[in-house]
Amino acid sequence: MAHSIVIFGASGDLTSRKLIPALYELHRKKRLPEQTRIVGFSRTKFSDGAWREKLSESTAHFVGKSFDSAIWEEFAPSIHYHPGDIENPESFQSLNRYLGELEGESGATRVYYLSTAPRFYEPAIAQLGAAGMAEETQRERRVVIEKPFGTDLQTARQLNHATHEVFAEHQVYRIDHYLGKETVQNVLVFRFANGIFEPIWNRNYVDHVQITAAEEVTIGHRAGYYDGVGILRDMFQNHLLQLLTLTAMEVPARFEAGAVRDEKVKVLRAIKPLGREDVATDTLRGQYRKYRDEPGVAAESATATFATVKLCVHNWRWQGVPFYLRSGKAMSCRTTQIVIQFRQAPYMMFEGGPRAASQANRLVIQVQPAEGIQLHFHTKVPDVGMKLRMTDLSFQFKEKFASEMPEAYQRLLLDVMQGDASLFARSDEVELAWGIIDPIAAAWKASGLPSLALYEAGGWGPPNSTEWMHAQDREWFDSCPVLKP
Ligand SMILES: NC(=O)c1ccc[n+]([C@@H]2O[C@H](COP(=O)([O-])OP(=O)(O)OC[C@H]3O[C@@H](n4cnc5c(N)ncnc54)[C@H](OP(=O)(O)O)[C@@H]3O)[C@@H](O)[C@H]2O)c1
Repeated sequence: MAHSIVIFGASGDLTSRKLIPALYELHRKKRLPEQTRIVGFSRTKFSDGAWREKLSESTAHFVGKSFDSAIWEEFAPSIHYHPGDIENPESFQSLNRYLGELEGESGATRVYYLSTAPRFYEPAIAQLGAAGMAEETQRERRVVIEKPFGTDLQTARQLNHATHEVFAEHQVYRIDHYLGKETVQNVLVFRFANGIFEPIWNRNYVDHVQITAAEEVTIGHRAGYYDGVGILRDMFQNHLLQLLTLTAMEVPARFEAGAVRDEKVKVLRAIKPLGREDVATDTLRGQYRKYRDEPGVAAESATATFATVKLCVHNWRWQGVPFYLRSGKAMSCRTTQIVIQFRQAPYMMFEGGPRAASQANRLVIQVQPAEGIQLHFHTKVPDVGMKLRMTDLSFQFKEKFASEMPEAYQRLLLDVMQGDASLFARSDEVELAWGIIDPIAAAWKASGLPSLALYEAGGWGPPNSTEWMHAQDREWFDSCPVLKP
């Protein structure tokens, strides 16, 4: 079946860094459906040849050793370019005619990928509607919307509304690239394809859950975007809440988009948004010390580059089990991990165990890098009486499977072409997530509590984060990837 992938924002960074490399890799692995055409659209004037040349260089750079110029030459003829301006209706008429000529009488399923600045999402969607390019009279029409999907609940609602004026929900694919990661999908397989974990995956056995997404990098030259957004909107509304829903959801009746997303939505509905007083006690925010010296950052900026949020999922499975979400920039390393901390043994009859019993009874799902799973438990040290030590069982994808871990965009692009929306956020899911994040952002702004704590780069955030956990008789699992990258 023929497919046309139309990329709006074709001359931009995401296209050359992620989208074209992913499509090239799919072609190399012979997974790209036959008769797939890629059509770039942005204002810069390129001929097909000039754009292919530019993409050949960037793709070689970003895919590294799997780039093969002979395979690229085979792939390149499927890449086309049609210059145009999102703000000009004539550009869309002309693009539609151009696509019609390429596709011929039989037509093609079209995927419109909005890889532009977010302020262009609504105009591009409206123009697609006005040009009749969203109608599914002959073949299917889909639109992919990049993150961020709104900057708060109101703007997300407005964008959903504007999108639904033109596209029905089944045509809309909202990207959260975390969901394209193998390890994130593996959370579902781990939980629902093995019978042994499900009986203990609840309040009877789990003490708490920690979800950490730490980045070693600072914001660098991204102040223009970041200073107005901050860590809460950049990481929590999407990636961290997505990881929480996959960890906490019930088993869906079928592995199918509607059923999976229904279960995720139920988790979000079970989280009571924090009131202003809760925000003061159940969240922390920080800023790395040199943040205000970064180019473009306001001198008095109160933007948080680190945050922790304690959320509770009010249902029979999770009542009373805190979910601690934490993310930061300028941290000690890059690691994304989900830690399930199981309850300790009710009575410890052995002496000389690890410093804290909570060091064992722990499952670490290492999302990235060094993707895998590690289980921590107590073991007897041989030949020294009843001395205990924490040890582990480790599974690492790269050791068990010969193939490289694919980039998330490969899976997501293929799913869009195949019409599988399981790994994309639905409109209600996005709005519920903003409904959890908005009150936190509003309370931080209104009350100034908790106050913004400065922290040194290269650690695990502000010292009060450690104290905050200790005050709850718990400890952060401050560990760089537990498995070797
Ligand atoms: N880069 C990443 O790694 C990354 C990761 C996650 C999400 N995202 C999201 O992906 C989107 C794109 O990011 P990006 O980094 O690729 O941005 P970018 O490098 O700034 O690219 C923006 C693109 O939009 C085009 N454009 C601007 N005005 C236009 C107009 N009036 N008509 C037609 N095209 C226009 C630009 O081309 P011309 O100037 O030639 O028109 C350019 O191709 C953003 O929403 C971003 O949040 C990016």
